[in-house]
Amino acid sequence: MSGSAADDYDVIILGGGSGGYACALRAAGLGLSVALVEKAKLGGTCLHQGCIPTKAMLHTAEVADATRQSAQFGVTATLESVDMAAVHRYKDGVVARLYKGLQGLVKAATIDYVEGVGALDGHRTVVVGDRRLNAANVVLATGSRARSLPGLEVTGRIMTSDEALTIDEVPERVVVLGGGVIGVEFASVFKSFGADVTVIEALPRLVAAEDEAISKQLERAFRRRKIAVKTGARFAGATQSEDVVTISLESGETLEADLLLVAVGRDPATDGLGYEAAGVTVDRGFVPTDDRLRTSVDGVYAVGDIVPGLQLAHRGFAQGIFVAEEIAGLAPAVIDEPGIPRVTYCDPEIASVGLDEAQARERYGEVETYEYNLGGNGKSQILGTQGFVKLVRAKDGPVVGVHMIGARMGEQVGEAQLIVGWDAHPEDVAGFVHAHPTQNEALGEAHLALAGKPLHAHA
Ligand code: NAI
Repeated sequence: MSGSAADDYDVIILGGGSGGYACALRAAGLGLSVALVEKAKLGGTCLHQGCIPTKAMLHTAEVADATRQSAQFGVTATLESVDMAAVHRYKDGVVARLYKGLQGLVKAATIDYVEGVGALDGHRTVVVGDRRLNAANVVLATGSRARSLPGLEVTGRIMTSDEALTIDEVPERVVVLGGGVIGVEFASVFKSFGADVTVIEALPRLVAAEDEAISKQLERAFRRRKIAVKTGARFAGATQSEDVVTISLESGETLEADLLLVAVGRDPATDGLGYEAAGVTVDRGFVPTDDRLRTSVDGVYAVGDIVPGLQLAHRGFAQGIFVAEEIAGLAPAVIDEPGIPRVTYCDPEIASVGLDEAQARERYGEVETYEYNLGGNGKSQILGTQGFVKLVRAKDGPVVGVHMIGARMGEQVGEAQLIVGWDAHPEDVAGFVHAHPTQNEALGEAHLALAGKPLHAHA
């Protein structure tokens, strides 16, 4: 397919992060002519400042903890130090390999990769420096950036996840502002690296978007790890000198730290890009779309973190692919947002999909829940982890939510999403034999129990 005579491309994509490059690759694969505009590095936040480098640091954290706890497994080892220069070499090496691979994919796909800051000029034109690119369709995929609070300047000892990814030594005391996903992941890393960590969260619980039982278990686990957690704590301000940052809470309490990590959410990156001038509705910085990812302007789509909803790389991939297929006329099925799995990589890991208990009660009225304790799961005991698999089902109906916590439980989210996505009943899942001894077995056993025939569990 090619654009009309007035158009240079079938599709121009503004932003080369997860949503943008997935859209570009799929569109090119479908024979569309594609321009992909990126101002920094192909791969965006996920590859360069988000998912990949942070999970590499979390893996280093796991290795440090395994070394500390080695005697428990009969291995004599001593943790001497966490060498940040070496951590960065490892982390940057992972990123560099993936970056090279991604660049190769885009090159091989015959996508016109345009470096520079692109902005909309009208709804069919993107301006990049002195170039004007025209297309039948434009996809906005400009992503998000770390947010701070009014009056809290990110500088020196006050950092967001961007700066925290490049620190050259392990701080002794860290205060993490925000107990959401980024907050608990970094709290976990810093603690494993040897810092004293305090998390300040305004809401009554950590990871407030998760099922309440998950928050409680995480708070217990953090207490055991001696990570201090202050929930319901309202931040009042922070000042810093060369040596210390002082954080004050509305309660009057003050805390001193070497580093204050601000993790209070991410703002959509949509300002100054000509969106509103082109007629695209922008709401508090976000670009609202319909379920086919169309903006308010015909031929202009939006994907990824600028679209209200979960700010997750895999949602961006799915949306990018969806839009490419939509433009190519394949009429793809609408993405099931509640079916998108969520994993938080702190220790212990959290993985969930579907509705939490409170949401399910609201939707279905009567629900049944079951919590399978990992205490009965052989592999989890081998690993020395605690946690559970919690199932939420509509009364006598399908499983509508799966909520898991424990070391490595993120890897179990795949089966959980199939169960929820396919409206499986516990009785359906109970019929599948799960491999022993795996952590995956815990999912199987939870369903056996909810189907009324528990094995390594009480009914
Ligand atoms: P978040 O929205 O998950 O958490 C921010 C937290 O800060 C909330 O709990 C909020 O109540 C708290 N907060 C806000 N203002 C506050 C104040 N003044 N005082 C105390 N607490 C305050 O945002 P976060 O953690 O910054 O993450 C941003 C996005 O990145 C999220 O959408 C997240 O899903 C995504 N992300 C996903 C990851 C994953 O999937 N593993 C990893 C990291 C980020």
